[in-house]
Amino acid sequence: DASDIEKGTYPHYMLKEIDEQPAVMRKIIQAYQNEEGKLTIDYNIAEAVSEADRVYIVACGTSYHAGLIGQQFIEKMAKIPVEVHVASEFVYNMPLLSEKPLFIFISQSGETADSRAVLVAIKELGHKALTITNVPGSTLSREADYTLLLHAGPEIAVASTKAYTAQIAVLAILANVTAKFRNQPVEFDLVKELGIIGTAMEALCDSKEEFEAIAREYLSVTRNAFFIGRSLDYYVGLEGSLKLKEISYIQAEGFAGGELKHGTIALIEDGTPIIALATQESVNLSIRGNVKEVVARGANPCIISMKGLEEAEDRFVIPAVHELLTPLVSVIPLQLIAYYAALHRECDVDKPRNLAKSVTVE
Ligand code: G6P
Repeated sequence: DASDIEKGTYPHYMLKEIDEQPAVMRKIIQAYQNEEGKLTIDYNIAEAVSEADRVYIVACGTSYHAGLIGQQFIEKMAKIPVEVHVASEFVYNMPLLSEKPLFIFISQSGETADSRAVLVAIKELGHKALTITNVPGSTLSREADYTLLLHAGPEIAVASTKAYTAQIAVLAILANVTAKFRNQPVEFDLVKELGIIGTAMEALCDSKEEFEAIAREYLSVTRNAFFIGRSLDYYVGLEGSLKLKEISYIQAEGFAGGELKHGTIALIEDGTPIIALATQESVNLSIRGNVKEVVARGANPCIISMKGLEEAEDRFVIPAVHELLTPLVSVIPLQLIAYYAALHRECDVDKPRNLAKSVTVE
């Protein structure tokens, strides 16, 4: 119950929950470590995922955005093909399923009706489901075959923050353990990398004034804003734009850098804010090319890059983390920028208009 959870000295739950992310990372590492310090998940879950010929991730909202990152983890580490679906579209447009599908439902609350409708439908077909949720005993947890918990603690603010990063971390652990189960080589130590992430998250949470300044400078008066990125940065941009629209009511759109020229660039005017993420070495040159394209049309760019890839024009440089895990840190500036943009516009940060924390109707 929201009234039981103290905000402490925080003005809003959202800010408190953003700040809790480093501690949640540590909690997750602990929860999924065995006595020898190795990452582990329930054997039956590792086996079920390993044996699937295709994984179907189904979710809504922020959890869907976490699913897009999870797809990359499972494909790159465990080498199993993955599809990610918005729950409300899946039900009446069910894709042709593979021979041995495994369904993963991602839901902070475990109560989202759209996701549950898919769970009911695929159970009727006799398929197996794993739910990744923050709430033990929730409907999606009870009705699925398996559950992995987020260990993020209660999330009260309507705009999801710590649950998103917890979902990504748990998906990374799931992919990592499944990879080992399938004898797929993983060339990095995920426990160590998640530790580095926790420290990087702390540094970002300590840089609030910078994100407040960015929000003031770019988002005080604008009616719209764009988030661009390529590869994992694209998916994080989708989440950044959702955060911004949810709580500040600024019309925001996230899109892939390469798609700019196929339409969206027509919207760029003098002063249009463009938040560009540049944390991926493999696409760094291309995304910087996109920034030049929009700047040539008058856009006001705010480049958020990563240590090692930074250039003089960048507005903020996040600490270096493993290239596959950047979403865990690069989303924090976007969460904080959205938070301050909403604050400056005197919006109700924790309870935005027209939205509910958990949507239990289809
Ligand atoms: C609602 C919330 C979103 C959330 C979505 C999915 O729309 O406002 O923040 O991402 O539901 O919720 P779930 O609990 O299934 O993750």
